[in-house]
Amino acid sequence: MKHHNPIITEMFDAKQFAKMGHQLIDLLAAHLDANIAGKSKVLHWKIPSVEDSNWNVPLPQTSSINPKGLLEKLSQEILPNNLAIHHPKNMGHQVACPLPMAALCDLVASLTNQAMAVYEAGPIATMLERQVVRWLCALINETTWHNAGGVLTSGGAQANLTALLVARQVSTSKANPSSNLWKDGIAQQSALRILASEHAHYSVSRAAGLMGLGTDSVIKIATDQRGKLDVNALKTAHQTCLENKETIIAVVANAGCTPTGSIDPLQAIGEYCQGHNLWFHVDGAHGASALLSGIHREKLSGIALADSVVWDGHKLMYMPAAVSAVLFKNEQHSYAAFSQDASYLFQGNSHEDEAFNLSYRTLECTKRMMALKLWAAFSLYGTAGMGALVDEAFAKAKTFAEKIQAQSHFELLMKPETNIVCFRYLHAYSNQAQANKHQNDIRQHIIQSGAFHFTQVDLHGVTWLRTTLMNPFTTEQDLEELLARVALAAQAVFSMAK
Ligand SMILES: Cc1ncc(COP(=O)(O)O)c(C=O)c1O
Repeated sequence: MKHHNPIITEMFDAKQFAKMGHQLIDLLAAHLDANIAGKSKVLHWKIPSVEDSNWNVPLPQTSSINPKGLLEKLSQEILPNNLAIHHPKNMGHQVACPLPMAALCDLVASLTNQAMAVYEAGPIATMLERQVVRWLCALINETTWHNAGGVLTSGGAQANLTALLVARQVSTSKANPSSNLWKDGIAQQSALRILASEHAHYSVSRAAGLMGLGTDSVIKIATDQRGKLDVNALKTAHQTCLENKETIIAVVANAGCTPTGSIDPLQAIGEYCQGHNLWFHVDGAHGASALLSGIHREKLSGIALADSVVWDGHKLMYMPAAVSAVLFKNEQHSYAAFSQDASYLFQGNSHEDEAFNLSYRTLECTKRMMALKLWAAFSLYGTAGMGALVDEAFAKAKTFAEKIQAQSHFELLMKPETNIVCFRYLHAYSNQAQANKHQNDIRQHIIQSGAFHFTQVDLHGVTWLRTTLMNPFTTEQDLEELLARVALAAQAVFSMAK
């Protein structure tokens, strides 16, 4: 199709798209293959300010690159210098090495750009989302979650915010039925509190800040040796809030906390919340995917007692970012987060029709067709295939923990419950600060070499090296090599310090 302006013709040229698309897919397939085979470095470390100056060029006024040049730029500069996410020695963040078929679905989502705020701006995108949400709710519990529902959001942080907005609206109107906090604001409210595990993701405190409650409104509940929320500490904190006449808007438990992957005692917390009429939110961004595994599902026993659950697709469901679900046991609650009108969008529809206009229930107005990739993955591989990925990741973490325990110069933080393993190098350090600095230096030494990528975490003043084992192609040999590298780096760092 020709436009009178040649540049516009070129921009929308379907033939060019097909030609370049084929080449791009070939390029990406080779990149994927090489990554999985571990052929390159995991990370080509460069000092950020140096890299920044390399990418600081004047804004092009006219074409500065042709399609072939764009492919070259991708293959020579962009792809090799990104973090190699499918590399077996990439063990850093809780970010999936995405399923290639899901990545293809994201291309469809990009080109078709279904805005999704209202049904007519993405009819099938809406249906796919409703289907995926129903599947996820059924995985939580087919019986007690049969009236459940929710939406997909761009990330777990936003999903936590959405759930806590609902919790606030529901809990405050329970405490004072004539109040409408969404409309009136928080000024008239008594002190509102969130009781959350000390290991809650920072998005929980951030949500409190965003909601105008102040981050101090989040009361951190201690965890035990295995990183699990201490139910007695929760009860004590609850009692103190009651004595202070504070309104609790939610109890937040982790199903796979960020630092260690530990799963809180969901059954006990859920029963306590039910008994005391408290909103129970489970942040399962990381670990809710254990529901897909016949072996590990039991670890989440009690999750169905939750009023709301957050579950990330781009973690253990191996989706490209971002796709998260915020799910409510009672679907009607999902309308409580954003009780606001936008007449140009929602034209006095009946409540039933509103169910198809998703932006009633999410912060986003325009959002991506996020469900396609999840729908495709479940359709292609079933829960059996998706669960196999979880089994593989959790088994690898167990193996790695055993290897760490078998070596005297390493300390394992705890037996992993999911796929996060924390450990540290042991030495006769003169104090904790020195021990912590050494772990940090070891990690910097290794990640800057490009041999492995992993993270670190500070817990109660102690720094731990932290691996998240996501990649099904990571071998036992890779895990042994990491420990050997850490030991070598420890010596190298010592000699550099001398
Ligand atoms: C437990 C937990 N909740 C929430 C989040 C935030 O999720 P996202 O990065 O998808 O916004 C994370 C991220 O790692 C997490 O570990």
